[in-house]
Amino acid sequence: MVRVLIAAVLLASAAPVLAQQSTREEAGYKLAQAVCAECHGVEPEERISPNMDVPTFYDVANKPGITIVALSVWFRTPHPTMPNYVIREDETSDLSAYILSLKIQ
Ligand code: HEC
Repeated sequence: MVRVLIAAVLLASAAPVLAQQSTREEAGYKLAQAVCAECHGVEPEERISPNMDVPTFYDVANKPGITIVALSVWFRTPHPTMPNYVIREDETSDLSAYILSLKIQ
């Protein structure tokens, strides 16, 4: 009985976190399709970018050393070839959440 209760409490506290995470990924996905897809392959199954010299988001996610920290540092430096689109702080975390969701576990 106690164990069931504990499990119920754990589930109830994890659910909002999970829901929030998938909303971030979704927002990042939409943004990527709108702003990044011109050059990057942004779809989960995409393995070649429209612009051949540009890594797909799948490639980025699965590069060794890519973490949420590495991505947020990266986003703070100007994107060399990107048109003057300034990514807002909250968009950065949405995009990072989406990119990292493509990482093979
Ligand atoms: C005009 C083309 C263009 C657009 C649009 C663009 N990128 Fe890029 N991106 C590049 C190129 C070219 C590179 C590879 C060269 C480099 O690393 O600077 C790159 C590299 C990256 C990298 C680093 C990859 C690595 O291997 O380290 C990330 C992360 C990234 N882009 C994210 C984004 C996101 C997020 C967006 C949309 C908000 C975006 N890019 C839009 C051209 C573009």
